Amino acid sequence: MPYLISEEAQDLLQDVRKFCENEVVDTCIEADKTGEWPRELYEKAAEQGYLQLEIPEEFGGVGLSRIDVAALFEEMAKADAGFATTISASGLGMKPVLIAGTDEQKQYICDLIMDGGLGAFCLTEPGAGSDASAGTTTAVLDGDEWVLNGRKCFITNGAVASFYCVVASTDKSKGVKGLSMFLVPATAPGLSAGKEEDKMGIRSSNTTDVVLEDCRIPASNIIGKEGEGFKIAMQTLDQARAWMGCLSVGIAQRGIDEALKYTKERVQFGKPIIKNQSLQFKLADMDIKTEVARQMVANALTRMDEGLDYSRESAIAKCYASDIAMEVASEAIQAFGGYGYSREYPVEKLLRDAKIFQIFEGTNEILRIVVANNLMRR
Ligand code: CAA
Repeated sequence: MPYLISEEAQDLLQDVRKFCENEVVDTCIEADKTGEWPRELYEKAAEQGYLQLEIPEEFGGVGLSRIDVAALFEEMAKADAGFATTISASGLGMKPVLIAGTDEQKQYICDLIMDGGLGAFCLTEPGAGSDASAGTTTAVLDGDEWVLNGRKCFITNGAVASFYCVVASTDKSKGVKGLSMFLVPATAPGLSAGKEEDKMGIRSSNTTDVVLEDCRIPASNIIGKEGEGFKIAMQTLDQARAWMGCLSVGIAQRGIDEALKYTKERVQFGKPIIKNQSLQFKLADMDIKTEVARQMVANALTRMDEGLDYSRESAIAKCYASDIAMEVASEAIQAFGGYGYSREYPVEKLLRDAKIFQIFEGTNEILRIVVANNLMRR
């Protein structure tokens, strides 16, 4: 048991494990080939309640701690990182509302998720990636409605979400202090999904542009106050990054599991190759680093649960765990030798899946800025 979790979560973990074995693995191998979003799989996951894990108890959730949820997300990421990303990115889409929304807004999005819906977080634009405050999307108040115009890109769940949390400028003259956050239902007139990305990995997840053309939403759909959008986006990412660390640990753990199994079975020079100390040390290093990453994730999530600061810990967890996921996936391929490089075996996909975790929800370079900023404030 990698995390110390509640009894309720232990039961759920067994269910998730079975669901992943029976439903996720093969479906997502197929999605990896075709790039098609496996809608039916997510409908089945919704039926099991796996989209609802981050819903707070007071809004109808099961009331798991974040460590409980981490154990479940790690299991999902072990089966397929794209599957876990879809669910975790839906949680990312919920966070602006859970952090700064009204109780009505919170209940609204939680009900959508409980009905099998997904959320999406719309910050990034073609000219505003790491420089997240440089977006050009605008929101203008027209009577009792906001009218949004702009284009967001690289949005996980972009074409399949039920609601979107969108950052837009309500006052260009104020720069970052003129950015606001909006809750946009998928049914809002003027919202559509644009170009879909043909990605290197996490191909069972959906990533598209989100286009806002005179998109109208009620005035009450602002999240927090005007001008608070950037702060809410940063607080959202501070939380979400630890979850990306958690998924990275899942990829790394899969790499260890696959390498261990293979090296016990593969015979060369008359003995299983695991009998070579060079491979034992390789596996031990993979295990040590993955466990360190897992404990970093646990530390960040425990601090969140306890109401302590977590910006630094969350950034550290995501940065370290995603670097480790790349390293462990690469070492797993090495342990498989030539077979590891073949698509017939499961480990090359891990490397392709792992790469994005060093990039999205803040590149690891930006995360070092976040860590340094936290240091300099001491
Ligand atoms: N919490 C609260 N407020 C914060 C904050 C935080 N963590 N970080 C910054 N702020 C506030 C600052 O205090 C400041 O306000 P004051 O002047 O009142 O103090 C204001 O925001 C501006 O701060 P900075 O000057 O530090 O902002 P910056 O423009 O230099 O940017 C940055 C800082 C860390 C580089 C930020 O732009 C950033 O995180 N960039 C990366 C964006 C990112 O992670 N994008 C991923 C998008 S999600 C995704 O990947 C899609 C998906 O679907 C998976």
